[in-house]
Amino acid sequence: MFKIQTLNSISPLGLTRLPSDKFVVSDSMTEPDAILLRSFKMHDMPIPATLRAVGRAGAGVNNIPVEALTNLGIPVFNTPGANANAVKELVIAGMLLAARHIGPAWQFAEQLTGSDAEISKAVEAGKKAYAGFELPGRTLGVVGLGAIGRIVANAGVALGMNVIGFDPGLTVEGAWQLSATVKKAGSLDDLLRAADFVTIHVPLVEATKNLINADRLSAMKNGVVLLNFAREGIVEAGAVSAAIKRGKVYGYVCDFPSNLLQHHERVIALPHLGASTGEAEDNCAVMVVDEVRDFLEQGNIRNAVNFPDVSAPRETAHRLVVANANVPNMLGQISETLGLAKLNIHDMLNRSRGDYAYTLVDLDDPVPPDIVRKVAAISGVLMARVV
Ligand SMILES: NC(=O)c1ccc[n+]([C@@H]2O[C@H](COP(=O)([O-])OP(=O)(O)OC[C@H]3O[C@@H](n4cnc5c(N)ncnc54)[C@H](O)[C@@H]3O)[C@@H](O)[C@H]2O)c1
Repeated sequence: MFKIQTLNSISPLGLTRLPSDKFVVSDSMTEPDAILLRSFKMHDMPIPATLRAVGRAGAGVNNIPVEALTNLGIPVFNTPGANANAVKELVIAGMLLAARHIGPAWQFAEQLTGSDAEISKAVEAGKKAYAGFELPGRTLGVVGLGAIGRIVANAGVALGMNVIGFDPGLTVEGAWQLSATVKKAGSLDDLLRAADFVTIHVPLVEATKNLINADRLSAMKNGVVLLNFAREGIVEAGAVSAAIKRGKVYGYVCDFPSNLLQHHERVIALPHLGASTGEAEDNCAVMVVDEVRDFLEQGNIRNAVNFPDVSAPRETAHRLVVANANVPNMLGQISETLGLAKLNIHDMLNRSRGDYAYTLVDLDDPVPPDIVRKVAAISGVLMARVV
């Protein structure tokens, strides 16, 4: 039986994928094999000696002590892209909210008083203040063509927009998923100069902090609509506020309210709703449970933030998995230890990523516990286990 501890509530749609004859799941578990969580701050809790895997139902892992876990050979799984559709839908809503002045128009209609005839009269007199514009033919600039940016770009195409994207790290796999009509911008500034709507979908890292600042805003078209459903620190709120005041920016739609942006006529700040749908929660739970289960039962790694993807069907009934530092002669030492124990390696798969590597070894015979301990004792091996 594998013991799974949940530190936050995880959607039942995910948990039902752990059959009760093989897994016991509880929020008050001791000695867990795996921990599942969402936003629980793991930094302050001791890492259980039995722990093999951590699964975060979501993308960010700031709440998890990734480095300490990596040094113990414990993969931290997450769910990239599982909430992408939820964010995409809110971005589309954001474009329409800005283009059609839906917020102020709704407020105007809400505060009308009098008889129905008087309200109708006031509607006809007042509605011209909320006239908007349509999306087809406008240019949508998508900064960051990852899981979210790609489907936002494709949705823009479906809405009849000209779409231009910028992502220096675009993968071949990512490019395949993009509509063929999405144009590639040569630089961020090229994109900013061309777009009527600019939507940001990059992670917040040192290089993207204040990516959209006063200079970048000046480079944009007059009357641009800026959307930020990525992270607050990527867009300098003060610079946006100033750009709105001087009429450069037509509207700013974001997921991050702040004092500076509150009560600003041209700002729509939503309360971090990007991934807040039942479907996104279910998708994350299903994905993370499948990843953790596959790792516990088969040793396969998919979507760990600290180890490479290493996944293969079993060639034999006996599999040894090893997490190790990415230094010379690790495979040689592992093979030698198994060879000296007269264990024949049927198949072996090794991948490295940065300072770490992970190896699956399928063997013709069972690996005795003392040999697993010998492999685990090799300098640079972080974890060795039979699955
Ligand atoms: N509002 C919300 O609730 C919500 C929900 C989910 C994700 N997010 C945010 O959205 C971001 C994007 O999510 P994702 O799932 O698409 O991530 P992702 O990792 O799939 O894609 C990010 C992309 O940004 C690109 N990139 C990095 N730096 C860049 C730069 N300087 N210029 C252009 N492209 C750059 C990367 O190459 C990558 O392709 C996340 O990092 C997260 O912060 C917000």
